[in-house]
Amino acid sequence: MVLQHNDGQLDLFDIAVFDSVDSTEALRDLRSSLCERDEQANLYSDYPVHHLFDPPSKSDIHRLNQKTAQYRKKEGGLLDVKTARLEIERWKEHAQRQLRENRSENAKKVVLSLFDYTGNWSKPWREAGYNVFQFDIQSDPEVGNVFNFSPQFFADYFGDFDGLDIYAILAACPCTDFASSGSRHFAAKDLNGTTQVSIDLVHQTLATIEYFRPAMWAIENPVGRIASLTGLPPWRTSFDPNDLGDPYTKKTILWGRFNGDLPIAPVEPTEGSKMWKKYGGKSQATKNARSVTPEGFSYGFFMANNAVDHPSLEARMKYDRLDPELMSDAISNGYTAEQIGALIDDFYYIEMDDGAAEKAIRDLISSEPGQQLQP
Ligand SMILES: C[S@@+](CC[C@H](N)C(=O)[O-])C[C@H]1O[C@@H](n2cnc3c(N)ncnc32)[C@H](O)[C@@H]1O
Repeated sequence: MVLQHNDGQLDLFDIAVFDSVDSTEALRDLRSSLCERDEQANLYSDYPVHHLFDPPSKSDIHRLNQKTAQYRKKEGGLLDVKTARLEIERWKEHAQRQLRENRSENAKKVVLSLFDYTGNWSKPWREAGYNVFQFDIQSDPEVGNVFNFSPQFFADYFGDFDGLDIYAILAACPCTDFASSGSRHFAAKDLNGTTQVSIDLVHQTLATIEYFRPAMWAIENPVGRIASLTGLPPWRTSFDPNDLGDPYTKKTILWGRFNGDLPIAPVEPTEGSKMWKKYGGKSQATKNARSVTPEGFSYGFFMANNAVDHPSLEARMKYDRLDPELMSDAISNGYTAEQIGALIDDFYYIEMDDGAAEKAIRDLISSEPGQQLQP
């Protein structure tokens, strides 16, 4: 793999995914197809093929509890739950309006939502008309099992998504072996192999992300040891559900590449850390109740990351070797990420000639209107 951080350090993910995992057949499949691709990319070994796993810059790191604290200071208090719910209803209506007004653009984009039993994280995307595919082993032990992912799996079951772009991969990875709240069981789980299975699942998720190279990806987990055990890059966003309208605390971290500056609808955490008080138990039902993705967060994430409201996000992230300002310029000049792709994909993916790709975009921006691409 040709993964390097900007500062030239070897990426932990590089070692973690390829050298230390006793993985399933499927993971080996994904790995070997990535390795084949990387052998070609090694021709350009001093030049990273992508920046999917780069650490976020300081200004891209967001702690929503700080936004909540600022809100409290400015407004002299937080929202009451009813008002916060109204705000989230507005976000919901916003997503649903996209289905009416932007259906055809959104339908060309695929969102893969992994470890998504309730469908909560992917719900706004589905409502806005994106092509959403939800995976959870409880919903389908075969097609929902992330361990079964391989290039053949995506070809057989999904026809490679008809060649559509994978806009986002969302993953609420199983957390019971990582979350600090379960630390008293760590020693036993580390010994009996349970922890390793959870680590493998994270690696399988990362291999899937690298395989598809989506514009955007996010892994969610409660605060704990997932990053140190799996080699995730540094996190981007932290929040508690009460920052987004759900009145309880559960410190949650998001890793990945996305806009982490989510809007807030801050309320007092009047229910405290209700998870263990209300749902402390070992049954699958209580485990599910503890890990439901809160709705306020789902819609907040959508508001910050959907392609209609953030038109340059996709092009900047997808073509991550190119000058982001140039990509934004092209978008502000009225071109879509799809039109830019039609122009530069060969230069970018096949020839890996970034200079030629950037020149084509510059020429497009400065061309006479008559010579411009048809919308
Ligand atoms: C932390 S929970 C996330 C639940 C999610 N927040 C929701 O609202 O549905 C982890 C989920 O991973 C699923 N899971 C565990 N092993 C899996 C596997 N191998 N493939 C797919 N899903 C798996 C579990 O069934 C569980 O629903």
